[in-house]
Amino acid sequence: MNAMPSNDLENLPVRRRDFLALATRALLWLTGGATAVGLGRYLTYQLPAERPTRFTLEPPQAYSPGTRAVVADAGAAVYRDQSGYFARSLTCGHLGCRVHPSDDGGFACPCHGSQFSRDGARVHGPTAQDLDGVALSLDEQGRLVVDVASKVDPTWRLRTDATAARRSQDAAADKG
Ligand code: FES
Repeated sequence: MNAMPSNDLENLPVRRRDFLALATRALLWLTGGATAVGLGRYLTYQLPAERPTRFTLEPPQAYSPGTRAVVADAGAAVYRDQSGYFARSLTCGHLGCRVHPSDDGGFACPCHGSQFSRDGARVHGPTAQDLDGVALSLDEQGRLVVDVASKVDPTWRLRTDATAARRSQDAAADKG
């Protein structure tokens, strides 16, 4: 007697056709879920808050002649010389890294090694430019305000009554 060959696949608890249907459904649910999550994130995305560009500092008299004050929050250095007050951006003109005070009294860029003098002049590259001059002004309370988004000529100075008086005293002393 020849026994008929049995089809074991037909006797499995889950047939191949059912398994494929289940797998297809599961794949569709997974794809749909991932799409829904992605769409939800896209629709609820919020742009990062813009960084402020204006920073209120101390009143001018807090900075004695010859001062260089690094204002880390602002990414700027504020100076006072004989002519008045000025500020330099601490953003390297090469690829935009933040420069840091260096041991020689200037600034150094940690990214590719550009160096700058104490007042922000380029000492060596790869950057081709000095640190940008940025605007200083006085607010209603007489405090300095630095605006790192507002570029100014490096020779620009903010003159206050105190610096004007000092310049005229110096001029009178030179004549006398
Ligand atoms: S970003 Fe400063 S040297 Fe490249």
